[in-house]
Amino acid sequence: MNFGIIGCGVIAFTHASALKQLASEGCCLYGCCDVDREKAEAYAQDHGVKKVYPDYHAMLADPEIDIVCVCVPSGLHGQVVMDAARAGKAIVCEKPMEITPEKIEEVIRVVRASGVKMQCIFQRRLMPVAIALKELIAQGALGRICMAEARLNYYRDQAYYNSAGWRGTWDLDGGGALMNQGVHGIDLILWMLGGQIDTLYGKAATLCRDIPVEDTAAALIRMKDGALCVIEGATIAYPGYSSTFTVYGEKGTVSFDDQHIIAWNFIDQENAPLRPDLGSDVVGGAKNPIDIGIYGHICLLRDIAQAVRDDRAPMLPPEEAALAVKVICAVYESTKAGLPVKFQ
Ligand SMILES: NC(=O)c1ccc[n+]([C@@H]2O[C@H](COP(=O)([O-])OP(=O)(O)OC[C@H]3O[C@@H](n4cnc5c(N)ncnc54)[C@H](O)[C@@H]3O)[C@@H](O)[C@H]2O)c1
Repeated sequence: MNFGIIGCGVIAFTHASALKQLASEGCCLYGCCDVDREKAEAYAQDHGVKKVYPDYHAMLADPEIDIVCVCVPSGLHGQVVMDAARAGKAIVCEKPMEITPEKIEEVIRVVRASGVKMQCIFQRRLMPVAIALKELIAQGALGRICMAEARLNYYRDQAYYNSAGWRGTWDLDGGGALMNQGVHGIDLILWMLGGQIDTLYGKAATLCRDIPVEDTAAALIRMKDGALCVIEGATIAYPGYSSTFTVYGEKGTVSFDDQHIIAWNFIDQENAPLRPDLGSDVVGGAKNPIDIGIYGHICLLRDIAQAVRDDRAPMLPPEEAALAVKVICAVYESTKAGLPVKFQ
């Protein structure tokens, strides 16, 4: 499978490292492009990429390319994905898939009409403890779920926002602490809980950074089954904390962060489910966006390659990636209106 990278910035390095690990499974980092040609040339040199294209349209026109990885700023994802779909390429799209629910719907329509396969990136979904907790909730091992928390408290200084013109902007980042960083954890907690939202009340604020989008936010979500879910998201939390997820059920409590299981407490402790093995990967990113684990990307890139070969659906199709963005946009809407947002 020949992969092409569109956008050779920070996250493109994670894609290159993941593809290197998948070389023995037939995955090849074949091509790359960037609007900054020098950046693309340097990236190609660093990672042994065979071909540098003048722009992504030239890459999409090359029959040698099987799968493209969309690693451009978030507000450009939709256009690139739709062009790739129309060109018949399989697609990997970085988070967030797009920055509004309306754009996401349009992308999904085009991808479905073209029949190509698309994998979205939410690497935390590959965390063994998250997979285990989702299963426990679904099986009822925690009983009725009453409350859940996702604490997504990152640190990004002003220099981070100044490092690329699109960071912290409405039109290209789509938001701030929630849309860029917190989106991972919002996806994860809602995925584990089953995603059935009734109402959301949120507040987003810009308190420390010189940016138009939020650096501090909180939301309270009522799930359809009555459970309450509290979300905190920030980029002002010095020095940056491991994202922490806690689910309180009537039969017990499970809590974990990027590296640890913090609580695995069951009222019937003797018959408690086995604690999952955490593996060696640290999801990371709390202090520095470059410092993230690679395990999730390896799994998701391997999966799309296998999905194309076997003609099956990939693990994380675009329909799955829509909810977190819908929730974040609802926090913005609730902030403006000072009112709760009702979900269908
Ligand atoms: N999964 C994760 O943990 C994770 C981590 C970081 C970033 N991301 C996501 O990846 C995306 C990129 O983020 P980044 O931090 O790598 O940004 P970046 O600014 O470092 O890199 C983006 C690159 O895209 C290039 N680009 C812009 N328009 C282009 C176009 N039309 N064609 C080709 N290249 C173009 C830019 O020149 C730049 O080199 C964002 O959507 C971000 O949310 C995901």
